[in-house]
Amino acid sequence: MNQATAPGKIILFGEHAVVYGRPAIAVPLTQVRATATLSPNSTAFQVIAHDLGQQYLLTEAATDNPIAVAVNETLRQLGHPVAPSVNLGLQSTIPLGRGLGSGAAISTAIVRVLAQFYQTDLTPAEISAIVYEVEKLHHGTPSGIDNTVIAFEQPVYFIKGRGVQRMTVKKSLTFVIGDTGVIASTREVVAALRQRWQTAPDRYEGYFDEVGRLAQHAKMIIEQGLVGAAALGKLMNENHELLTDMGVSSPELDKLVLAAGDAGAWGAKLSGAGGGGNMIALVEPAQAEQVAQALRAAGAIETIITTVR
Ligand code: MEV
Repeated sequence: MNQATAPGKIILFGEHAVVYGRPAIAVPLTQVRATATLSPNSTAFQVIAHDLGQQYLLTEAATDNPIAVAVNETLRQLGHPVAPSVNLGLQSTIPLGRGLGSGAAISTAIVRVLAQFYQTDLTPAEISAIVYEVEKLHHGTPSGIDNTVIAFEQPVYFIKGRGVQRMTVKKSLTFVIGDTGVIASTREVVAALRQRWQTAPDRYEGYFDEVGRLAQHAKMIIEQGLVGAAALGKLMNENHELLTDMGVSSPELDKLVLAAGDAGAWGAKLSGAGGGGNMIALVEPAQAEQVAQALRAAGAIETIITTVR
């Protein structure tokens, strides 16, 4: 049996503006993972999506089924266009549709397990490129940040169309992640923002520029560690305000962001596409549990404490 996994992700700065060419910062979220396993099947390639309670033959999948596209694209890249007779089992602890990269993680785990099956080493850049093809189905116009941070499994400073810049984190950062429980479609949130941008391009370009500047500034702070977490938290609050101005936040997200601040977080913002999903709060490690409790009291259905190193 072959098995491979891939982590979730959180975007620290720059979501949405990154689709329009501005820089963004993302880190892997290793507490939650997608897992793909291959086991023998005597007749055909069968997909078993345990979390969705689905089981089907690869040949019967719709042409735009992201799992089938991930499999077929990987087989093509590996030079084995005919699918082997195996069961592909898929399982994930990354909540679906909540900005934590569940789709890209499942695709990455699929690419990794098939490469393992054919005993072929794929570089993170090669894995990321295959997953990007699948992301286009999920998201329409993806920047490529999700597949990059998940395939490289490292903090990244990302600008669309440029090679990946790995980031070093000088002083470890502790985040509390709060889940609104609201499922939002990245494709829809991104498309609605694109419409607003088309009707008022100057205004939205202005927001994107400001967000890009925040991401640049945050990169310096994270890499040099010269100033404290308070400065980084302030940038997160500013980024959240800009995301609210862009219309991608939600009352549930705003409530959690406020609650995090009231409970002593250095700063907080939505993370990912918004419209629901998760927010993140930067905290002192000793305060993490208190902030997590405050988030749950304010409606978070789940909280995760994570440290980025
Ligand atoms: C989604 O994780 C991040 C967005 O910026 C979309 C993208 O970058 O493709 C909202």
